[in-house]
Amino acid sequence: METLLLKNNIDDIKYAARLIRDGQVVGIPTETVYGLGADASNEEAVGKVFAAKGRPADNPLIVHLADFSDAERYTSMIPALAYRLAERFTPGPLTMVMPKNERIPMLTSGGLDTVGIRVPSHPVMHSIIEQSGCAIAAPSANRSGLPSPTSAEHVMRDMNGRIAAVVDGGQSEFGVESTVISFDGEDAVRILRPGAVTREMLLEVCGEVVIDPAILNEVGEGEKVASPGMKYKHYSPKADIIMVESQLGDFTSLVGDNYGDGVYALIFDGDEAGFPYRHLTYGADSSMQAHWLFQRLRELDDMGAEKVYVRAPSTDGVGLAVYNRLIRAAGFEVIRI
Ligand code: TXA
Ligand code: MG
Repeated sequence: METLLLKNNIDDIKYAARLIRDGQVVGIPTETVYGLGADASNEEAVGKVFAAKGRPADNPLIVHLADFSDAERYTSMIPALAYRLAERFTPGPLTMVMPKNERIPMLTSGGLDTVGIRVPSHPVMHSIIEQSGCAIAAPSANRSGLPSPTSAEHVMRDMNGRIAAVVDGGQSEFGVESTVISFDGEDAVRILRPGAVTREMLLEVCGEVVIDPAILNEVGEGEKVASPGMKYKHYSPKADIIMVESQLGDFTSLVGDNYGDGVYALIFDGDEAGFPYRHLTYGADSSMQAHWLFQRLRELDDMGAEKVYVRAPSTDGVGLAVYNRLIRAAGFEVIRI
């Protein structure tokens, strides 16, 4: 199959929407990362998404809607707190897990009786949903295990020949996937995956916000998890990633002691003056680090990096999302000095 590269104009958007309505899979831009979109209610189409990604069947897909009010069509119960959160954070990078109804096939929900609902803010994605008239199931558009794509070019690289088309909507704004939450009682939520809607922001609306332990800790084999995605090694480039929590001086010495062919460092903007080893930078603050992380991981692969020492980000605010992706990319290998 030849994968078409479509542009950000109304004819191409209509064509992409038509492909989705016809049961095809299309790479679509969102404000977080690019997704692989298909009609959430069409099992055959959703099956193609799992096949194109090489995704395990027990890992559910997020369902994307044009407006939160449409959630009533696909869920059997919406907590009052969900409406309050939607008011504040949609459209935007927040996914809320709620009991699903029969319009969402078990294939889409990875065999669970819940569905993650998200209302993306990217204008191209919004029009594609509206024009298609479908709820769009979309995981991140990377091959399973690789870093998520933040540009149409990344999607093309991973998916060329495997899907019908990719719509180029520019570089993704946030750069990390949406915050995924579930409901833990009337006024409490649990963060299953951290994102740009931070714990601090959620606390403006909720009485309590629990951070699931699997966000920062490795899940043991056979252990039960609140979100299946947390079981899998993720976001990892070909290179071996090692996270280092230390001051710049100790970090520089560590890289020096282990330096050789194929060894690179991923450091903060501002660290590079006088840093004598091969490196890339990924931003000075958490928002920029979120924006650049996946792009940099792909660039390191292109440069032939075999081993990458990464300065560990802060876990405050959006930093928690960056830390969570990196620690998974590192297979939980962290050096603390
Ligand atoms: O920003 C995003 O969320 C992007 C864009 C494309 O919207 N999508 C995305 O999808 O990151 P994916 O499939 O790569 O990650 C979805 C995560 C997985 O870890 C999955 O296990 C979890 O959300 N998830 C989805 N539905 C769930 C459910 N019903 N219960 C628990 N976890 C769920
Ligand atoms: Mg993903």
